[in-house]
Amino acid sequence: MSTYDVIFIGAGPGGYVGAIRAAQLGLKTAVVEGRATLGGTCLNVGCIPSKALLHASHMLHETQHNFAKMGLTGTTGVDWKQMLSYKDDVIGQNTGGIEFLFKKNKIDWIKGWATIPAPGQVKVGDTVHEAENIVIASGSEPSHLPGVTVDEKTVVTSTGALTLDRVPDSLAVIGAGVIGLELGSVYARLGSKVTVIEYLDVITPGMDAEVARTFQRLLGKQGLTFVLGAAVQSVAVKDGTATVTYKLRKTEAEATLDADIVLVATGRKPYTTGLGLDALGVALSPRGQIVTDAHYATSVKGIYAIGDAIAGPMLAHKAEDEGMAVAEMLAGQQGHVNYDVIPGVIYTHPELANVGKTEEQLKAEGRAYKVGKFSFMGNARAKANFAGDGFVKILADKATDRILGAHIIGPAAGDLIHEICLAMEFGAAAEDIARTTHAHPTYSEAVREAALACGDGPIHA
Ligand code: NAI
Repeated sequence: MSTYDVIFIGAGPGGYVGAIRAAQLGLKTAVVEGRATLGGTCLNVGCIPSKALLHASHMLHETQHNFAKMGLTGTTGVDWKQMLSYKDDVIGQNTGGIEFLFKKNKIDWIKGWATIPAPGQVKVGDTVHEAENIVIASGSEPSHLPGVTVDEKTVVTSTGALTLDRVPDSLAVIGAGVIGLELGSVYARLGSKVTVIEYLDVITPGMDAEVARTFQRLLGKQGLTFVLGAAVQSVAVKDGTATVTYKLRKTEAEATLDADIVLVATGRKPYTTGLGLDALGVALSPRGQIVTDAHYATSVKGIYAIGDAIAGPMLAHKAEDEGMAVAEMLAGQQGHVNYDVIPGVIYTHPELANVGKTEEQLKAEGRAYKVGKFSFMGNARAKANFAGDGFVKILADKATDRILGAHIIGPAAGDLIHEICLAMEFGAAAEDIARTTHAHPTYSEAVREAALACGDGPIHA
């Protein structure tokens, strides 16, 4: 039996970051994690491995499409085994890095799966650990689709899609959300025939509609086929081949699609199995999310929850920020997360990034706004790098010029968005960005030009 100030359950981005902050603030801290390595879904079977495969497959795409134009000769093939081992190496470096940080910050890693027998107690195996505060950071798992049985071989979630034994000839993706499109583009670049079946009439629902339309067009050019407005009914597997049956929502007509592999990417749900929340009386929402107040406190005193297990976007950086905030609150400080300024990124090529309101949301709210837009075609650096597809769009309050949102599709969008996040944190106007010197030639100039477009107009358009 040992006594901690705080025990985090789960070593994903929420739990491990929260634990490091708690330890930095002088709290005696432990993290329970049952996986063989730290880092949770994100590092082991999510964000990081998918980025390695996106990087490698993008390099291949460059060799096939742009090398000859630049006077580079030679061809490149795919050694899939080596690509997977590169991906595993990237995972290992990152999970090992967290282990190092735990040692450095004197955080105990309690190995195993936790249950909470009572407030103040965390049981792992036969040992009960005492903690003044418990933070549940248990994350999420893929949500399953009725009529579809995942075997992680032929019918896979994102986890199985990261360890396929070969590049499939054909891949059917169910769900045109973030996972479906990131992994769909990986396999399309590696040569698979990729068909994405989406229930709604748009891809990436919730995203700025203009960006989503451009995105669909560009992915189409990269070889992805879309079947929109189609509800998947079932998947049958016979002799290693899958048949997806779907119904077109408008006509109710049923159709089928055969594929070597089916990726089910229809969303994720909180993972709270085995924690004993029922017996404790921890309140859950109808969607299975742990209900928390503004201080991440659950309905049971001394038990907190953060990340994918609670409400809000299922994003690693949202969980990280909540981890830091809860640690700061437990240490007597003022932790805070600004939910109005959480960027979202899709790491395809081109990348997509957004923050704040979409035009559709502003219209629905009846807000008077202006749009400043700039195409990467007008950006010299983007043109030099064959990256002229896409644009930056800044939405600003019509009267005050204050930035309300931004939507980027284009090169390095996921990095460019942070200039706008920072501007929004400081309550900046579009003119503040427009008056800031941006180095030439950089992609960032497109952000400045979009800010200029909110005022007297951009220079290079
Ligand atoms: P998602 O919620 O992004 O997209 C799921 C899609 O599946 C939706 O478009 C939905 O309309 C569609 N769908 C649902 N049922 C269907 C059916 N029966 N037939 C056809 N289509 C159907 O979920 P996704 O992509 O699985 O991602 C899960 C979570 O992981 C998300 O919250 C996402 O934010 C997060 N994530 C974030 C990443 C990033 O930030 N780059 C990367 C990967 C995941």
